[in-house]
Amino acid sequence: MRKPNIAILGATGVVGREITKIIDELGIEFNEIKFLSSAKSAGKKLEFQGKTYTVEEAKPESFDGVNIVLASAGASTSKIFAPEIVKRGGVLVDNSSAFRMEKDVPLVIAYVNDEDLRKHKGIIANPNCSTSQLMLVLKPLIDKNPMKRLIVSTYQAVSGAGLAAINELTDNTKATLANEEFENKCFKKPISFNVIPQIDVFLDNGYTKEEMKVVNETKKILHLPQDLPISCTAARVPVYNGHSEAVDIEFENPITPDEVREILGNSFGVKVIDNPDNFEYPTTRDASGVDPVFVGRIRKNLAFNNGISLWCVADNLRIGAALNTVRICKKLIEMDLY
Ligand SMILES: NC(=O)c1ccc[n+]([C@@H]2O[C@H](COP(=O)([O-])OP(=O)(O)OC[C@H]3O[C@@H](n4cnc5c(N)ncnc54)[C@H](OP(=O)(O)O)[C@@H]3O)[C@@H](O)[C@H]2O)c1
Repeated sequence: MRKPNIAILGATGVVGREITKIIDELGIEFNEIKFLSSAKSAGKKLEFQGKTYTVEEAKPESFDGVNIVLASAGASTSKIFAPEIVKRGGVLVDNSSAFRMEKDVPLVIAYVNDEDLRKHKGIIANPNCSTSQLMLVLKPLIDKNPMKRLIVSTYQAVSGAGLAAINELTDNTKATLANEEFENKCFKKPISFNVIPQIDVFLDNGYTKEEMKVVNETKKILHLPQDLPISCTAARVPVYNGHSEAVDIEFENPITPDEVREILGNSFGVKVIDNPDNFEYPTTRDASGVDPVFVGRIRKNLAFNNGISLWCVADNLRIGAALNTVRICKKLIEMDLY
C-alpha cells in the first residue's frame, strides 16, 4: 500500500489535536506529516510519535506534494485552501460545513457509506457532529426495516463550539458561583447552569442551521428520499464533551426493542448499554474519550406506529469529527483513492 504525505490543517484547534492523536491510535502509515495553523499559532512546537514538529502557517505552497489534507480550521479557511489543495492533486477531508451539501462532494461516515468515497473529485466532507453519531445507529436499523419518520432532540456539549467555548463554560461557571458579572462571547445566553435552545443561526423556517444540518445531511448520507419527514431540535448544554440525543424513529414495518438491541449489539462502532432496572444507560461521561456510539433506553415509542425511541451518546470530538476524519483517511489509503 502507498503511504501518503499528510497535512493537518487547524492542527492547534480542539479537533485538530484530536485528529493528531487518532492518526497515532489508528496506526495510519504516512510518508511525511505536517501541522498547519493560522499565523497566530505558527512556530509552536508539537510532539508527535516521539518527534518535535513546528506548526507552520498555512499558505497555498504548504500543500505542495501533500496527498491528503485533514482540515478542521473553519469553513472560510477551507474555502480558501480547497482549490489550492485540489489544484496540487491533494485530497481534502474537511470538517467544516463549507462543502457538505455540494453535489460533487461525498459526505461520508466511515463504515456507513464508504462507497461514496469513490465519487470524490478532490474534496470529501465530514458530517456535522450531531449527524455523525446518529448515522452509525440508523444505518443498520434501516437496512433491516426502512424508516418513515425521524425526530431528533440533541443535547450538545460546548466542545462542539471549539476551544473558546470550553473556556467560556469554565469561566462562566466560576463567575456564577462567585456571584460575579460575566459577559458571554461564544453563546447568546449564559452557558453556566443553563440549557440554550439555539446552536448556530436561525433560518426562515424557524429551525436553526444546526438543526437543518441534521435533517439534510442525514438524507444525503443515507440516500433517503428528500420528502422523508425528519425534524430536529438542537440545544447546547453545560457539558464539556459528549453529545446526547433523544431519537424517535418510525419504521415501515413492526420492530421490537429486543430486535433493535440485537441489531445494534452486532453493529460496527455501536455499544448498547440498556438495563434500566440496574440504572444502566449511557451518559456523556461514559462516551467522552472513547470511540463507540453508545445507545440505551431502547423502548417502544408510544406516539408512532412501529416506533422506537432511544438515547444515543457519543464523543462529539471523536466520532463527531476527528475519529471519522481519520477513519476516512484510512479508507482512502485502503481503497487507493488519493
Ligand atoms: N468541535 C467539534 O466538535 C467539531 C465537530 C465537527 C466539526 N467541527 C469543525 O471543525 C472546525 C474547527 O473546529 P475546532 O472546534 O477545532 O475549532 P478551534 O478549536 O477554534 O480551532 C481552529 C483551528 O483552525 C486554525 N485556523 C483558524 N483560522 C485559520 C486560517 N486562516 N488558516 C489556517 N488555520 C486556521 C486555528 O489555528 P490557530 O491556533 O492559529 O488559531 C486552529 O488550529 C470548524 O469548522 C468546526 O465547525 C468541529
